[in-house]
Amino acid sequence: MIKVLITRKIPQRGIQLLEEAGYKLTIYTEKRSLPQKELIELCKNNDALLSAGSNKLNAHFFEECSHLKAVALMSVGYDNVDIEAATSYKIPVSNTPDVLSNATSDVAFLLMLAVSRNAFQMHKRIERGGWSFFEPTANLGIELKGKTLGVFGLGRIGVELAKKAKAAYDMNVIYHNRNRNTEAEEILDAKYVSFDQLLSESDVLSVHANLSNETKNLFNGSAFEKMKRSALFINTARGGLHNEADLINAIQDKTIWGAGLDVTNPEPMDKDNPLLNLPNVCVLPHIGSATEETRDKMAVMAADNLIAALSNKVMPQIINR
Ligand code: DGY
Repeated sequence: MIKVLITRKIPQRGIQLLEEAGYKLTIYTEKRSLPQKELIELCKNNDALLSAGSNKLNAHFFEECSHLKAVALMSVGYDNVDIEAATSYKIPVSNTPDVLSNATSDVAFLLMLAVSRNAFQMHKRIERGGWSFFEPTANLGIELKGKTLGVFGLGRIGVELAKKAKAAYDMNVIYHNRNRNTEAEEILDAKYVSFDQLLSESDVLSVHANLSNETKNLFNGSAFEKMKRSALFINTARGGLHNEADLINAIQDKTIWGAGLDVTNPEPMDKDNPLLNLPNVCVLPHIGSATEETRDKMAVMAADNLIAALSNKVMPQIINR
């Protein structure tokens, strides 16, 4: 009997598919992160892995678990996986693209709007008894209508956000990518700009790129310096793309207006992190894809990929062909 390890409880539809395929499932349910050493031990008793979360699957992992027949990720991002190492052991790896673009772009939109009106900090202030009288010049936000949305990484999620921003606020869309996205340029009337132009022209700069050696720490002090003082920085991609200490300074010094983060570095964020008490900042605990509908689709997609690999077929969402 084929044995599959699942690193977290996933939606039932995914479990059901794997059970119907006749596999014996082991599901890790402890309420703590699974250390790599334990993950490797568990994998040794299994034939395939469904990784639901950011388990570190590096060269050491694949060296120890070279017997695995397949790894299905329940995420679109795979910066936690050494794809080259997996390929060297001929282990196919898949991810879950597309199905989470709507939910994740919703979170970017939510952060953009919440930061522009400082909604989260206002809520916290009422809780502290800080709503005592009306002040016409206090609590002022920034309106988004007709402003410029700069997208760093205009792929599936960036396009969804841009569509929403155009429909709701008639925002102008500019973007910077490694390669031009001419299809999106047409649909969105989006303009391709240099990285420096993206920084200097965006009223809202939203990050949707993968974390890689090229993008790590790209949004640092010198990048924030080039942004408008009224700009909002939104990151729903990976926390490693921004430098947290520089972001804190940029907001404290009013180099930029504010920031909305669904991703931090490290995750989870410490409860004493200064970002949590700065004005015009909203932080969420990496909930981009966390809707009932999307997580169901991700679980089904991950299960389908695993079933394909274990039936000697190509995984539909394979990363390493
Ligand atoms: C993804 O799918 O990459 C989300 O960020 C969850 O990790």
